[in-house]
Amino acid sequence: MNIGNIKRDFPIFENNDISYLDSAATSQKPKCVIDCIKNFYKNTNANAHRGAYGLSLQSSALLSNARHKVAKFLNAKYDEEIIFTKNSTEALNLIAQSYGNLAIKKGDEIVLSILEHHSMIVPFQNLAKHKSAELKFLYLDKNYQINEKEIEDKITSKTKIVGISTVSNALGIITDYQKIIDKAHSVGAVVVVDASQSIAHVPFDVKKTDADFVIFSAHKMYGPLGVGVLYGKKQLLEKMPPFLMGGDMIEYVYEDNTTFAPLPNKFEAGTMDVASISALEVAISYIESIGYENIEKVENELKIYLYQRLKNLPYIELYCSDDLQKQTGLVSFNVKGVHPHDVASILDMQGVCVRAGNHCAQPLLRWLGVNSTVRASVGIYNTKADIDRLILALEKVYQTFKKYI
Ligand code: ALA
Repeated sequence: MNIGNIKRDFPIFENNDISYLDSAATSQKPKCVIDCIKNFYKNTNANAHRGAYGLSLQSSALLSNARHKVAKFLNAKYDEEIIFTKNSTEALNLIAQSYGNLAIKKGDEIVLSILEHHSMIVPFQNLAKHKSAELKFLYLDKNYQINEKEIEDKITSKTKIVGISTVSNALGIITDYQKIIDKAHSVGAVVVVDASQSIAHVPFDVKKTDADFVIFSAHKMYGPLGVGVLYGKKQLLEKMPPFLMGGDMIEYVYEDNTTFAPLPNKFEAGTMDVASISALEVAISYIESIGYENIEKVENELKIYLYQRLKNLPYIELYCSDDLQKQTGLVSFNVKGVHPHDVASILDMQGVCVRAGNHCAQPLLRWLGVNSTVRASVGIYNTKADIDRLILALEKVYQTFKKYI
């Protein structure tokens, strides 16, 4: 595969003259993913697990093939350890409500890192409140790392659940999640890993890491919107109560009682979005066809270039570790004295797409001492030309505002 031509796989760039630097919010979709969805509705559409006719059986087969693909992708032992949800947020709510209700008692402790997305913080905060448990945070040191002392001090024999992201969606920091998993296991706690911001860039192996739960969204890894993945160890998922109730998650329903289906159906109530789940399978094949080693190589070069170019602009304030090995190709910054929303609007006028705001990580930004930042994040289709365009557009921002700064 010619890596230099990857942009051509993404039809959106034929129709829009943009430098898309917002892959952390959602990645663009390659033609193969778009075609998969189109083909499903043109040729296969039927409800999975509902009919004895050919199309419905094909739809059911697509669902189980996709599950098998995701299980292999994560190196899971059993296909039924993979549950499809709507997104990462729903997966985290499932864990907090189902496992959390089962496992957390008054006085227990739940430990999250301060760099978590609201989708991790809010469900576990709610759980802690309802159970009179304590929610604790792992804070960062001056170099944006969760250091050993913080891990040792906060994760104790009282800790029952630990939540950690592989990468911060707001600052691009790569966490030492393996150290946190190992420490949590040493005190008997269960670990929830949010891999949403890393799965498009580096592989995740559930056996090697021994993570108990892992979640991510298809749409950040070149797949469609509307599909999330929850991996859970079979022995945990089996003892957990259902999260949503309804069709296809049951075994028998009586007027006064219901027994539930085995995994994975127990956690997949209602009609599944087979078109999108099947397109996730195609997105995984797409990543595999490029190869994670090639993705890492290309994105690493882009990351270094992005940081170097930004560091050379005196009017930019960067929020990142000094050690670029601890950062992904996602950078948060501000143009000194200019509101991030103004920066993003002017960048948009130059065809540069970035995110501005608190990035659904208010506690982290409060710790940083800012309300909001501009965030630029790369994907496999980006080139140095996209970064050059960002830098030129930032110069335009500076020229527009410099008399007020
Ligand atoms: N969680 C996504 C982001 O960080 C939406 O932008």
